[in-house]
Amino acid sequence: MQFFLDTASLDEIAEAVSWGALSGVTTNPSLYARVGSRQANFHEHIRRICALVSGPVSAEVTARETDQMVVQARELAALAANVVVKIPLTLEGLAATRRLSDSGIAVNMTLCFSVPQALLAARAGARYVSPFVGRFDDIGDDGTKQLATIVNALRNYDFNNRNDSGVAGGAVTWLRDDDELKASAPDDPLPNRNSPAQSGCVSDGADHPFAKRSADFGACASSRGIEVIAASIRNPGHVTQAALVGADIATVPFAVLKKCAQHPLTVNGLLAFEKDWEKVKNA
Ligand code: E4P
Repeated sequence: MQFFLDTASLDEIAEAVSWGALSGVTTNPSLYARVGSRQANFHEHIRRICALVSGPVSAEVTARETDQMVVQARELAALAANVVVKIPLTLEGLAATRRLSDSGIAVNMTLCFSVPQALLAARAGARYVSPFVGRFDDIGDDGTKQLATIVNALRNYDFNNRNDSGVAGGAVTWLRDDDELKASAPDDPLPNRNSPAQSGCVSDGADHPFAKRSADFGACASSRGIEVIAASIRNPGHVTQAALVGADIATVPFAVLKKCAQHPLTVNGLLAFEKDWEKVKNA
């Protein structure tokens, strides 16, 4: 499981990058509001985040209507090669995702709370889907159980190699270089359905200006063709559960990521080692 940082704070991102285990960043309008910047500076801020981290950086649209979402998404995607556009899981968002993924722009569908929503995101070509764990807990539900249900449902299907049923079929390998895209079934009767844009993975829409961007951060790592980002993570326990249920990624607030590296027995162990080392200092 990869760790993304769920923040818009440049300081937090820079520090977390220095810890060496960060694979990406997710932001949203609330996280941006928290850094105290203005709407006018949003694009520049995303650019700065993208310069700090080499992995995918999710930047969210604020429009609610499909055409407007697509316009905003294209602007965001043009900011840096590692931008992933975050689109809300609505009907309008699905339509926007289909259009964006067909043109090679990687989409993270956010605010996912159910299996049907996650399946629709995969079908619309989303590269990532973000089920929210903590917000289920907030309303007295079990967020990690909900996450497990979504991961398990997606696991039943292979969105890389779609046939009419969507059920896992023959192997298709998406390589890092989209020029070298290879499928194991040369006589695929449904070539369009196997296109990377359809799968939500690396695009082969070679003539689109953003066509190669998804390839910049590698092929879709998940055998499902869509990666699950466990979001709305509130504590290290959520991280443990996300890993146990097989989420591809956990996007974690700075304070929680810090806690993930800490354990009281590690602290006690270090104190004991220091004490014993002192004993042998002048032995
Ligand atoms: C996901 O990408 C969101 O930014 C995030 O995880 C929201 O979490 P919250 O419930 O803590 O606001």
